[in-house]
Amino acid sequence: MFVCICNAISDRQIRAAVDHGAASLAEVQCKLPVANCCGHCEDTARQVVDEHLLDRRQRQAG
Ligand code: FES
Repeated sequence: MFVCICNAISDRQIRAAVDHGAASLAEVQCKLPVANCCGHCEDTARQVVDEHLLDRRQRQAG
C-alpha cells in the first residue's frame, strides 16, 4: 500500500527502513523522502513507524 503518494513510498519501504535501524519518522526520513512534499501522509507514515517499532519490541520480548 502506498503511504506517500507524492513520492510513491509504500508501508513496506517504511517498515524496511525501521528494520534497518530507523527509530522514528524523522530517522525514516533520512533514508526515504516520505512526507516531505504535501505532508498529507505524515500521520499515516508515523503510525506505520510506531506500529512496526512496537511489533518489533513485542517480538524481541516474547
Ligand atoms: S503524500 Fe506524502 S508528501 Fe504528499
